[in-house]
Amino acid sequence: MNLYRKRLKLIKGKGVYVWDEDGNRYLDAIAGIGVAILGHSNEELAGAISEQVEKLMVAGPMFHHEEKDEALGELSRFLSFEYAYFGNSGTEAVEAALKFARLYTGKKEIIAMTNAFHGRTFGSLSATWKKKYREGFEPLVPGFKHIPFNSVEAAKDAITKETAAVIVEPIQGEGGIIPAKEEFIKTLRDLTHDNDALLIVDEVQSAFRTGKFLAIEHYKVQPDIVTMGKGLANGVPIGLTLANFDIPRGKHGSTFGGNPLACKAMATTLRILRRENLIEKANKKSIIVGGDKVIMTRGKGLMIGILLKENAGKYVKMLQDKGLLVNTAGSRVIRLLPPLIITKEQMLWVKETIEGVLNEDQ
Ligand SMILES: Cc1ncc(COP(=O)(O)O)c(C=O)c1O
Repeated sequence: MNLYRKRLKLIKGKGVYVWDEDGNRYLDAIAGIGVAILGHSNEELAGAISEQVEKLMVAGPMFHHEEKDEALGELSRFLSFEYAYFGNSGTEAVEAALKFARLYTGKKEIIAMTNAFHGRTFGSLSATWKKKYREGFEPLVPGFKHIPFNSVEAAKDAITKETAAVIVEPIQGEGGIIPAKEEFIKTLRDLTHDNDALLIVDEVQSAFRTGKFLAIEHYKVQPDIVTMGKGLANGVPIGLTLANFDIPRGKHGSTFGGNPLACKAMATTLRILRRENLIEKANKKSIIVGGDKVIMTRGKGLMIGILLKENAGKYVKMLQDKGLLVNTAGSRVIRLLPPLIITKEQMLWVKETIEGVLNEDQ
């Protein structure tokens, strides 16, 4: 329990704000690491969830229910995929993607990127790059290889007929909010296609917030598998793996995956997103943070990384003291993943607050 003693204790949230136990209010620009896309305590969602709790919470993977149809129906207004597998987290979505890729291609080799983050279960962790996440857990799953992110040459050397799949984040999240270059993604698509390998795009962090439903849409490339999680049900745990081919029944599964409660929350979240046009509005609310300590602001829409010349960690606490919650991505990046309901004025306040804190610390 010692672990939690020094952490800020949150007791409630409403919209873009959360409160601590002493009654202090914070603008939550990290939103549970990109989860609360509709903000906190959305009334329509809360109503749908509580009705569902009274109606049907559990079905089990061997039964169908109308909430799954409703969730997939809402999804189909944004995307079209042949097959959907429901899990309960981002790492489970990735785990399923990796298994499906091996099953479908009959090959073993998975190529991932330097700096990538795909989760912490063994398959996802084997695709994750950083030593700090991997150390102490080896041996990881065999058959994984990492190539330098954004290197077209490295991709050309690495992807062969032996390759089952390439997994990539269109904008690396944990790695520091680093967008993939267009030429790189197009090369990955061409090479996987030519080598009968699959392209897995991990959208667990990048979905919804870059001005498109999926960040990969900016590249005009069609992936074979997409993984989603985080904000898909605005806080009810969920993971989703979408594929352009069928997976034989019973080859992979989950007790809780696709339960009526999570599906209802997903359907309602997607309905609100679409009705309120929150995805298109994200780009208009983006900010660029300036100042002597800033190298650049990068990312897209409301997936924002502020790359500093120095370590970003100490600013998280200083911003918290000013009533703003953020976190870091990599050692020198302040990361913002605010709710999509945030206003332009609130984002300008976020910018001014960060610039103020960076400037006042001399
Ligand atoms: C790109 C990406 N993939 C996978 C994951 C793992 O998701 P989860 O923490 O829900 O298991 C994350 C989490 O941050 C992520 O950013």
